[in-house]
Amino acid sequence: MEIYRDIAPLQQYLNEHKFHGKKIGLVPTMGALHSGHLSLIQASQSDNDITVCSIYVNPTQFNNSQDLEKYPRNLDQDISLLREAGCHVLFCPDDSEIYTEQPKISFNFAGLDQVMEGKFRPGHFSGVGLIVSKLFNIVAPHRAYFGQKDLQQYLIIKQLVKDLSYGVQLKCIPIMREADGMAMSSRNRRLTEEGRTRAVILYRALSEAQKMLKAGADVPQVKNEVAGIIKQAGVELEYFEIVNPETLELMENNLIGKNVALCVAGYVDGVRLIDNVIFNLE
Ligand code: PAJ
Repeated sequence: MEIYRDIAPLQQYLNEHKFHGKKIGLVPTMGALHSGHLSLIQASQSDNDITVCSIYVNPTQFNNSQDLEKYPRNLDQDISLLREAGCHVLFCPDDSEIYTEQPKISFNFAGLDQVMEGKFRPGHFSGVGLIVSKLFNIVAPHRAYFGQKDLQQYLIIKQLVKDLSYGVQLKCIPIMREADGMAMSSRNRRLTEEGRTRAVILYRALSEAQKMLKAGADVPQVKNEVAGIIKQAGVELEYFEIVNPETLELMENNLIGKNVALCVAGYVDGVRLIDNVIFNLE
C-alpha cells in the first residue's frame, strides 16, 4: 500500500494511473477503522482499479473541542487493516497540509443542515462540506463511498456534488452492525463494557419504532415509546425523528406507502452515538 502524507506526491501517483485510464475510488474516513469502513473499501475495490482511503480527523467539523480531543486515533492498526483489505493508497495528511491557514468559506445547505445532526452540532456540516470538497479536489476520484450510518451527511454531500458540479459518482453503503444489532462506530471504542451493553438500546428502539409504525401506530405514540425505552436503559436521548429519507423533511402523518427513515442520536456516558433505519411503510 502506498502511504502519502502530502498532496503533491499523491496527485503525481494518481495522475499517472488516470493517464492510463484507471478508475479511482475514494473512501474518506477519520480513522479508528472498523468493519463498516472496510465495507466501503470493499465496495470501492469492486468498482474501481485503485482505492484511496483518506484518514483525517477534520477539526472544522467538530463543534465540541473535547469530542475532537477524545476522538479515537490508531494509525498503526488502521494501516494494518487497510493492508489486509488490499487498499491501494492511504492519504493521511497533517493539519498543516490541509489547512494552510484558517479557512474563510462556509457552507449552508438550506433545510438539510437545520434538522437532527445540524440542529445539535452547529457548524458540523459546513466543516464536512469543506473537507469533502478539499478531498474531491485533491483526489478527483471517479467514485466516492459514504455510509448510510451518516444518512444526513450523505444527503448533504449529494447536494454538494450537484451544486458544485463535481464529476464524482456517489455511493451509499448499508450500515454494518455488531451481532446484537448495534451500529459499528469508531466512537464505540470509547464505551465501557457496561456502556456498550446499554448502547444497543438505540438500535432496539429503532426496531421497536419500525414494528409499531408497521402495526399502524401514529407518530406521537411512537415518539413517546422510543423516548421511554431509551430513558429506561439509562441512555440520554438527543433526538428521535421520523423523516423523508431523501429530503429529511419531518413526517408527521400519512406515512402509508412512503419510504421513511427513523433517525436517533443519544449519549451513553458522554459518548455521542447515532443510528438509523430506512424502510417502506406498505
Ligand atoms: P467516519 O466517521 O470515519 O466515517 C467514514 C465513513 O464510514 C462515513 O461515510 C460513514 O458513514 C461510514 N461508516 C461509519 N460507520 C459505518 C457502519 N457501521 N457501516 C457502514 N459505514 C459506516 O464520516 C466521517 O468519518 C467524516 O465526516 C468524513 C466524511 C470522513 C469527513 O471528515
